[in-house]
Amino acid sequence: MTDEFKDVREQVRGRYAAAARQVLRGEQTSGRGDGCGPCSAADDEPVFGAGLYAASERAELPVAAVAASLGCGNPTAVVALTEGETVLDLGSGGGIDVLLSARRVGPGGRAYGLDMTEEMLDLARATAAAAGVANVEFRKGTIEAIPLPDGVIDVVISNCVVNLSPDKPAVFAETYRVLGPGGRIGITDLVTDVADDRPPVADRAAAVGEAECGGAGALPVGEYRDGLLAAGFTHVEIAPTHRVGTETHSAIIRATKPYAPDGLTIRPMRVADAAQVLAIYQAGLDTGGAGFETAAPAWEAFDAAKLAVPRYVAADATTRAVLGWAAAAPVSDRCAYAGVVEHSMYVHQEAWGCGIGTALLRAFIDATEDAGIWTVQSGIFPENTSSLALHRRVGFRVVGTRERIGQRDGRWRDVLLLERRTRRTL
Ligand SMILES: C[S@@+](CC[C@H](N)C(=O)[O-])C[C@H]1O[C@@H](n2cnc3c(N)ncnc32)[C@H](O)[C@@H]1O
Repeated sequence: MTDEFKDVREQVRGRYAAAARQVLRGEQTSGRGDGCGPCSAADDEPVFGAGLYAASERAELPVAAVAASLGCGNPTAVVALTEGETVLDLGSGGGIDVLLSARRVGPGGRAYGLDMTEEMLDLARATAAAAGVANVEFRKGTIEAIPLPDGVIDVVISNCVVNLSPDKPAVFAETYRVLGPGGRIGITDLVTDVADDRPPVADRAAAVGEAECGGAGALPVGEYRDGLLAAGFTHVEIAPTHRVGTETHSAIIRATKPYAPDGLTIRPMRVADAAQVLAIYQAGLDTGGAGFETAAPAWEAFDAAKLAVPRYVAADATTRAVLGWAAAAPVSDRCAYAGVVEHSMYVHQEAWGCGIGTALLRAFIDATEDAGIWTVQSGIFPENTSSLALHRRVGFRVVGTRERIGQRDGRWRDVLLLERRTRRTL
């Protein structure tokens, strides 16, 4: 982490430590923890704080937890929680959403609160004790380096905190890492309406620290979405709710981590995966059944040819060995074909039959649709019946046969052209 990011974080921490002390002294906060004045818009609709929760929810909590509410929404209302689930609240403050989540997941579930401000953690632990809620745990740490192992969380919630982070890609990557396969996020956060002419990321990070009234670090909706997609999330939805400033809205943000079979994880491909990805590629080509090429490209050529997002690997969750990958290349640089790609997917032969191909391809298709890609094409040899069946299962159809289109091992081969059109309205 750069010194600049550390400085920003210390300024943010100082503001929220002061807000926690105010609540502990029994004083009223602004609802935003920043001395910003009243926490409601001109028409008296609440825009920050406890007023965004139903009276019945407020009634089930200790006074201090309600008084310390500094969010811009109610994340427990935007994501369904089921008994027995494990929930993590990023930037849990006085603990209001952790306590509500703990009640929803019941004694068989668990709710973690994560905050970097000691005074907020003291307040949250005191309110949890006052509420008599046992299935909660508050941890000290930052949302850019979450102190939890991989894949242990079912649902990540957060209320008005991601906008305060100077390093949002790290927050999205860490959120993805701690979620298990099929895990989901339900966040409320500030987004900005100012999409163009934004200052560079580092300047914006500094603004987060300097701003007295928050929202300076809010991302435009498009950048928020791109950040979540780059981290590997699918089914990304961002819906603005209420205005909180001249250039900021509160928004509900939902997304999902792709499902993976037991013991596996599906995650974005990284440069560090290059050797394993290319070895699997080469082994697939060596079978003679995967394509006309005989040699996998060098990483630089692979990297230049494929879209940066989506690119997934399936990896063993324990050993972290890469077992398969999926990526795509645009079929043309002509603008009429924007949104049309040809994908490639290879699975390590020793991992065939474990459902990796189906999970990878489903994740990949979902991510292409989130990215606005409406047609995914693929060429498959007619003899490759398992690949054809897999593609049909996820909605591909054969649109034609390219007869004797090329030679492999001295033999002319047909190629079936498959296509999948999105079912979403883009
Ligand atoms: C706006 S308050 C929201 C608190 C709580 N979610 C609520 O709704 O009342 C922001 C909280 O996030 C914490 N926070 C801000 N940036 C953080 C970071 N980078 N890592 C961990 N906690 C952070 C602050 O200490 C503060 O408690």
